[in-house]
Amino acid sequence: PSLSKFTESLPIPYPISPPSTLDIASSTHSFHSSLGSVPTWGYGGYSYLGPTFEVTRGTPVKIQAFNKLGTHPLAKSVDTNLHGVMPSDITNPRTVIHLHGSNTEAESDGYPEDTYLPGQSKVYNYNNNQEAGMLWYHDHSVGMTALNLQAGLAGVYLIRDEDDPIGGNGPLGIPGGAPYEIPLILQDHAFNADGAIFFPARWHHEFYGDVAVVNGKAWPNLNVDRTLYRFRIVNASNSRFYRLKLSSNKQLIQIGSDGGLLNAPVYLSKLLLGPGERADVLIDFSGYLPGDKIILQNDAAAPYPKGLATVINQGYFQMPEIMQFTVNQGAAAPKPIPKRLRVNSPLITKISTKPVRERNLVLTEVLNPNFQVLAMMLNAVYWHEAAHHPELREQVRVDTVEQWNIINLQPFAHTIHLHLVPFQILNRQSVNDTAYYAAYGATGPRQVLMENAPGGPTVPYGYPPPDPTPYLKGSPRLPAANEAGWKDTAVVNPFEVIRLIVPFGAKAAPNLPFGNSFTGRFVWHCHMLNHEDNDMMLPFDVLP
Ligand code: C2O
Ligand code: CU
Repeated sequence: PSLSKFTESLPIPYPISPPSTLDIASSTHSFHSSLGSVPTWGYGGYSYLGPTFEVTRGTPVKIQAFNKLGTHPLAKSVDTNLHGVMPSDITNPRTVIHLHGSNTEAESDGYPEDTYLPGQSKVYNYNNNQEAGMLWYHDHSVGMTALNLQAGLAGVYLIRDEDDPIGGNGPLGIPGGAPYEIPLILQDHAFNADGAIFFPARWHHEFYGDVAVVNGKAWPNLNVDRTLYRFRIVNASNSRFYRLKLSSNKQLIQIGSDGGLLNAPVYLSKLLLGPGERADVLIDFSGYLPGDKIILQNDAAAPYPKGLATVINQGYFQMPEIMQFTVNQGAAAPKPIPKRLRVNSPLITKISTKPVRERNLVLTEVLNPNFQVLAMMLNAVYWHEAAHHPELREQVRVDTVEQWNIINLQPFAHTIHLHLVPFQILNRQSVNDTAYYAAYGATGPRQVLMENAPGGPTVPYGYPPPDPTPYLKGSPRLPAANEAGWKDTAVVNPFEVIRLIVPFGAKAAPNLPFGNSFTGRFVWHCHMLNHEDNDMMLPFDVLP
């Protein structure tokens, strides 16, 4: 169906306190006024997505979530070839909530196998013992995360502290809550002629929709007063990266990233956001005239960063426009944009504690003899193997700092997310992928088919992957200014290693932005949801 742009109003989920009970339920929703109401899922009474929750640092909340889901809205797309997916997921769907970005006990973290069925519930304890930041909650059911997010199971969760209090009356003069702080949940969708959500019936290594959906509406418009707005943006898309810019060519002012405020605002003509990443962005509309229309545009190719020659001209895969802002008569004098952020909790810009250990971790994919992608892989280890064999997963000691070197041997970017703790990006560096593959192929006895493997598609591999040091090219590059704060999800570019410094507990180093030292089983994974479901996700253990 062809849909008019900028005719829908942007729905705004202004923040509320979390309730003690939360329904996860079936509903119907219209993504555009020329589409009918179609089956969807939502949290907390929402027909699609969920309320924005807001809590204060250090104030614990307990939420009992009830699975009240009916038949899956994407029933025709449930692919039982994926690990953990069962025919019953169509009519008796599992769910589990992960609060992405939270430093939370293992029992409440949404381990992908901790799912519960319709009629069942689960209590989540979030102690919120961490600095202000933008978290988001979403389904994490093993094998079903992509479909469950596409059906609607995602929402925003804001932590506030003295630097960024509830109501916005903080030392920085930046908006907090209604009317000038607005969450933007970015997704791409495809629709059938009747308006139902379309998703392919069989797994593909990526999914790109042709309709931009923000907060559940297609290509929406937001009427804005002539003043300063704060947008809390999350990329909740399956595979799509966004490189956002304003059609007016004015800059976006980024003040925070995944893990809270940056040290100082970063002025950007373009903002890159991979799946799972968040940005806290100010836009000053005071210089515009009433009636001005500004389009939020996107020039990221899909797949990111280079597109795919065979499809790049089909238009379908690109998404040049996301939403529109229309400037009102209304005005409010904007407070000046602060020069420094974080008055009360200065950001440690680099963890100085030496890592106790470095790990080398590899992103690859597995092909069949016809070079079709069978699965995406971390360390060439399948989820079920690592879940049953501790020697095939990372085991870290609580309250230690580690360095994780993540090597992408594929021609497209991924976003890697760690549960439980935030990290800092040390740097990125190019890797000679062919030479590294050859070395990797010499490490072990087992056979998988891997893309770009030298001498044919079959490479024996071992665990752990080898040290990339002999195969590095060029010099390390520091993260971009807007990546220099705390992150929990990071873009891993093609043929590069990204080095992450990860404190696995509040006592691992001084002045960390979170207060707990939890042990137990957590996960790390690619946040491109089709990758995560098949099979780019592994458990890791934090041992006492
Ligand atoms: Cu946003 Cu493990 O996920
Ligand atoms: Cu991926």
